[in-house]
Amino acid sequence: MSDIAIVFADGETLAFPAIADASVLVAAERAGNALAHNCRTGICRTCAGRAEDGRDVLLCQEPARQGFRATVPYRRADIAPASTRRAKINGFSRLSPSVWEIRYRLQFPLACLPGQYVEASFPGVSAAKRFSMASLPTAKEQILHVRDIQGGEMSAYLNNRAKPEDLFTLRGPFGTFYLRATGKPKLFVSGGTGLAPILAMLRAIERPPSPLAIIAGFITSEDAYALAEIKALAERLPLEIILTADKTDVAWPGLTGNPIAALRAVKTVPLAPGSEAYLCGPPGMVAAARHVLAERGLAPGDIYNEEFAHAGK
Ligand SMILES: Cc1cc2nc3c(=O)[nH]c(=O)nc-3n(C[C@H](O)[C@H](O)[C@H](O)COP(=O)(O)OP(=O)(O)OC[C@H]3O[C@@H](n4cnc5c(N)ncnc54)[C@H](O)[C@@H]3O)c2cc1C
Ligand code: FES
Repeated sequence: MSDIAIVFADGETLAFPAIADASVLVAAERAGNALAHNCRTGICRTCAGRAEDGRDVLLCQEPARQGFRATVPYRRADIAPASTRRAKINGFSRLSPSVWEIRYRLQFPLACLPGQYVEASFPGVSAAKRFSMASLPTAKEQILHVRDIQGGEMSAYLNNRAKPEDLFTLRGPFGTFYLRATGKPKLFVSGGTGLAPILAMLRAIERPPSPLAIIAGFITSEDAYALAEIKALAERLPLEIILTADKTDVAWPGLTGNPIAALRAVKTVPLAPGSEAYLCGPPGMVAAARHVLAERGLAPGDIYNEEFAHAGK
């Protein structure tokens, strides 16, 4: 009998032997099986699953011990091996004082699902950075949204050195945060550039389940971006839009506060058991949103999230 069992979202079960001093991820690989992962160091959370005892676990950190059993939030067939592509910048601009948009083209297409992310290596930037794709996987021109972080290497590159036709490298796709093809009502919650993968998902919805809602949060009303695009999506989709900003000016069309306060206050969004939620942004926001959604009766397996974590935290 095998020692470890991983149960995928569609019920498929993968069984393989335990190995002393190895992680569950490594034990799966030694048995010839791939599980979703990226950093292997406990930062990106791509390998997250839920152990049988109810713990949220990272399979790259979890010891491969006998009897370990966990569920993962994706179908085995949805996870493609990562590959590397060369890309060229078409152009870049500010979408708000705190967000850059990079538009680029790939030398060869990269098969991925709406919501997934890549590791991007830009000229003179010391390490590859993780960014979610905001564009449809099939789009000729691809788009990344990059938060302008004071002292950040990417910000220094975009502010001082970047130019159209710069070559860079992408590796991917990564991540289990992608649009599920179910008919369930869907709620999307973003914080800052957590909007990027959610825009990719909304762009990909053709025959929408009803209703859809987005709560898009920003730190200040000045930081808000892509509002015209969200509005245009709502002309095509049955999409309720709730905008939040912690600090607002008089012209702000949304709520004052954060997305969690909006989740608690707004009664119309799809929050009943049987709905699905997609959460993306800072880890604190994602954890708080999961908590509120669980209180409102959403099943843990219907809540998908991506945390924009980084090595410094
Ligand atoms: C799966 C995943 C997907 C991501 N997708 C996106 C995306 O689409 N758009 C996006 O803007 N970011 C995204 N991020 C976060 C992004 O990868 C990092 O913020 C980015 O590497 C920062 O690069 P930098 O060169 O600007 O800062 P660095 O030079 O790496 O860091 C500069 C300073 O900022 C701090 N810092 C770095 N990142 C963050 C952060 N996220 N929050 C708070 N402080 C930080 C560092 O600790 C350091 O002090 C994603 C992260 C993950 C794990
Ligand atoms: S692969 Fe496990 S946290 Fe990144």
